[in-house]
Amino acid sequence: VLCEENLFSSKTEKEIHQQRATIESAIRGRVDFETHAVKLGGIQGHLDEICRSSRIYMIAMGTSTHAALATQTILTTLTNKSVSVMQATQFLDMDEPISKSDLCIFISQSGETADSKHALDYCNQAGALTLGITNVVGSSICQNTSCGIHVNAGVEVGVASTKAYTSQYICLVLLGIAIAQAHSITGSRVREMSIEIIDALRELPGKTEEVLNQKAKIRHLAHLIQEKQATIKESTMFNREQSNSLYILGRGFQYAVAREAALKIKEIAYMHAEGLCASELKHGPLAMVQDNFPTILFALKDRYQEHAFNAMNQLVSRGCVPFVFITEGDELELARNFKCKENVPFHIALPKSTPCLQGILAVIPMQLLSLYLAQARGCNVDQPRNLAKSVTV
Ligand code: G6P
Repeated sequence: VLCEENLFSSKTEKEIHQQRATIESAIRGRVDFETHAVKLGGIQGHLDEICRSSRIYMIAMGTSTHAALATQTILTTLTNKSVSVMQATQFLDMDEPISKSDLCIFISQSGETADSKHALDYCNQAGALTLGITNVVGSSICQNTSCGIHVNAGVEVGVASTKAYTSQYICLVLLGIAIAQAHSITGSRVREMSIEIIDALRELPGKTEEVLNQKAKIRHLAHLIQEKQATIKESTMFNREQSNSLYILGRGFQYAVAREAALKIKEIAYMHAEGLCASELKHGPLAMVQDNFPTILFALKDRYQEHAFNAMNQLVSRGCVPFVFITEGDELELARNFKCKENVPFHIALPKSTPCLQGILAVIPMQLLSLYLAQARGCNVDQPRNLAKSVTV
């Protein structure tokens, strides 16, 4: 059944395809591309206080936690502060000592997630400065935080969050730049980095479209994963767990992509998927790997690429050739690093962006992959079993 206003078979599919526009609206009116200045109206009055904060906590649940994870490194660099990422429940379980000098950022699509709201109450009682990053205007988290940023992604209906995630990601990066600029860190690496990110943001909507145009390749990848799983099912070398599993590996900025990809695949395709930091392979997960075990590896152009290629060869030497995502122009780099006599692995090249934004261009193919796997397995994409869009109790 196709949604009448569009040729999409589900709201989730439609929301994935809206991301060129939603990414644009997360940026619109907030960035001056000529002067490279960032202005976030909802936090302007609190910017001095934000800059004075000693530590930053990012607190959320589900996909929103991955937006925090994806931007933790760049926020640390841009703000020169210690930045922690915590699930709201983990944060409460730890009785984390919070003080007035802490900035606590609450990321929530709905603004109504009960666990995040409890953690917010805790931070408010401790007198911390609280900042909400939400998609639903007027939600509880908007109302109970000292200041905030709306992600402007429009209503999200699919239970699995897609367009809200990429917009949260952008808002967090913009927040980092706004703090760096308010600190007046001039002539430094941070200033150059902010300019580079802003220039890359200008090109991001167009590159998002380029990624969405690669959907035939992603559909083929879904098919190849299923083919591998079918081979495993017939082989006596493997046990039942291995035949419905998928590893997704990333390092640095791609670790959050791997985690979010695995969550999307579990949520809507009911397939066991694990998002791992590529460096963790040899500390346990490698034991599951044998011939044909399906794995996806991100080896995009950044300072972690060499480590990603190392992980690729660890897999290859166990007979498992991963599907690899690289950056456009890195085809020869992949071939050069592939230590095996066979043909280079099946790979998909993504448009190049500045390292901290590549996670946006890399997560979109993973959203599409989860969708195609779900469709192939006959799952209800918009309303996955046992899940709710917003967990308010
Ligand atoms: C539920 C939804 C997830 C979402 C999470 C956090 O588990 O199924 O898609 O990521 O809640 O929701 P929030 O609205 O706080 O971002």
